[in-house]
Parts: sequence; C-alpha cells; structure tokens
Amino acid sequence: METPKEPGSGRTKLKKAIILYNSRTGTTRKLGENIHAFLTENNIVSEIRDIKEQQGQALNNADYVFLGCWTSGLLFIRQKPEKNWVRFAAGLPPLESRRTVLFTTYKIRTGSMFRNMAKCLNLVGVTDEVTWLESRNGALPASYRDQLAKVINGNSCVTEQSH
Ligand SMILES: Cc1cc2nc3c(=O)[nH]c(=O)nc-3n(C[C@H](O)[C@H](O)[C@H](O)COP(=O)(O)O)c2cc1C
Repeated sequence: METPKEPGSGRTKLKKAIILYNSRTGTTRKLGENIHAFLTENNIVSEIRDIKEQQGQALNNADYVFLGCWTSGLLFIRQKPEKNWVRFAAGLPPLESRRTVLFTTYKIRTGSMFRNMAKCLNLVGVTDEVTWLESRNGALPASYRDQLAKVINGNSCVTEQSH
C-alpha cells in the first residue's frame, strides 16, 4: 500500500503506533520489543512503554494501538489479564477494533485471556476485528509478521495461534 503524504508537503506521512505492555518477568516486554522492531522495519513510528509509565491520553495520536499483558489464571482454566492491566485498560479512551492489537505471553494456554482483555476495553467496531498475538517465549514468528502486515496495511483479521 502506498504511504500517504503530509497535506501541503511532499513529505511522506508516517503512521504511528504505541505499544503498551504489562510484564512481570520480561517475556511480554520482549514480545512488545519484537513488535516494535517489526513496526520500525515497516516504516511505522512506534513507541513502547510499560503501562506503569503510560498516560491514557497519549493514545489519541496513535494510528495503531498494541496492548500486551501476561496471562494470569489457573494454568489450564480461568485466564484473565492481571489486575494492574485491568485498571489501566479502564482508563483508556475508545479504541477502533481494526487498529487494535492485543498480545500476551503464557506457559500452557491462553484460554479466555483475549476475550477477557477485550471485555476491559471500549472497542469501537466489530470486536472480532481485533488482532490477537500470543507467544510462549516473546518471539514474533513469521505467521504473526504476516498478520501484523495485514493490520498496518488496513486489512486486519483475527489471529489465534499457539507459538
Ligand atoms: C500467578 C500466575 C498465573 C499464571 N497463570 C497462567 C495461566 O493460567 N496459563 C498460562 O499458560 N500461563 C500462566 N502463567 C505464566 C505466565 O503467563 C507466563 O510466564 C508469562 O510469559 C509471564 O510474562 P512476563 O514475563 O511478561 O511476566 C502464570 C504466571 C503467574 C505468575
């Protein structure tokens, strides 16, 4: 897709993204950093922050919002975002589904994690248009790169795979 130009100038208008993560031991931060690297490679200007440092209103300037939280539950059942992320999510402005990506890291299974993350957000549009990324070790496999390419090219779809 052609990158749009700044109105009234010959300059290319770069899209912006923000990546906000909640990580206890660093794996979800690593996944966020890999997303950040992918976006940079694809000419998207992205910022990455721990949710502890984030002010909700800064999201207004972002074309894409990436929200990450580690999976908390009883290993096989009852997965949900951890309470600090839930509090953080409640303070966010409405987010357009097709420009929102949720990501998590886990050990056994993510189960209801993404459904419960989505419930905490004020999503505008079809919830199914939110893209989901999950990873055990924080790596961003090739299949997810394809999914992210679809999001940033305006053609998002739901992803739920095990990596
Ligand atoms: C209290 C607690 C609950 C967890 N519950 C689950 C779970 O239900 N399913 C799962 O697959 N992993 C579970 N995990 C594993 C974490 O989701 C996993 O280690 C994650 O990658 C940690 O991310 P972080 O390094 O960003 O903190 C749990 C970990 C903790 C500490």
